Amino acid sequence: MRKPFIAGNWKLQKTVGESLDLAAALKQETAGIDDIDIVIAPVYTSLTKVADLLVGSNISVAGQNCYPAASGAFTGEVSPALLKDAGCRYCIVGHSERRQLFAETDAFINQKSRALIDAGMGVIFCVGETLEERESDQMYDVLTTQVREGLKGISAEEMQNLVVAYEPVWAIGTGKTASDEQAEEAHAFIRGLLQGLYDENVAEATRILYGGSVKPDNVDGLMAQQDIDGTLVGGASLKAADFARIIHFKRG
Ligand code: PGA
Repeated sequence: MRKPFIAGNWKLQKTVGESLDLAAALKQETAGIDDIDIVIAPVYTSLTKVADLLVGSNISVAGQNCYPAASGAFTGEVSPALLKDAGCRYCIVGHSERRQLFAETDAFINQKSRALIDAGMGVIFCVGETLEERESDQMYDVLTTQVREGLKGISAEEMQNLVVAYEPVWAIGTGKTASDEQAEEAHAFIRGLLQGLYDENVAEATRILYGGSVKPDNVDGLMAQQDIDGTLVGGASLKAADFARIIHFKRG
């Protein structure tokens, strides 16, 4: 059995004060839950304060991005070790917004995953196809390349520190969720890729999250799918009640 993993990606939203308010509300809503990994990813400037507030809670904190160097002349960047120092346990890599808006390549995303694992951090590794790629039957090739290149050099043992997030780009922030069947099909395919790249144990143990317009009213159907082990939530993670409902998804 894979432990459910529910993550909220706040993107470029919320002041320090607003972040603390939301984190405090979530801390209350999730008190007592110990059978789900719950993670939130605030903006950099809120990380330490949110992490301090959440000490002793069931919620872990994640960075939304990092640079794959320990330190040096890299103006504007933040290293995995500094994220850890700020109280983060995880970091998101390969989000489609970073791939599209900041031209991040699979090789660069691979370097970030490597650097995070070396720093003792957990990785939330995102993949997903665009609408154009899906409609031109390139979806499986795209996912194969993203997974194979992004995980290059990550050992089977190190995969314990990584969750995969399947986020079809056409479903992110659009209100158009993949249907339960579309999502399950992609998740099963990704699990098959992991089996090919590693072995059955890694394929069975790795958690694969779905992301893209996850809301309180569609989370139950998604989470009922065999290969969907959690969700990466954008918009609906910004309201405590909505994110709490997603965390409290109904189990079949
Ligand atoms: P969304 O974002 O839930 O707002 O679609 C998901 C994500 O980008 O991780």
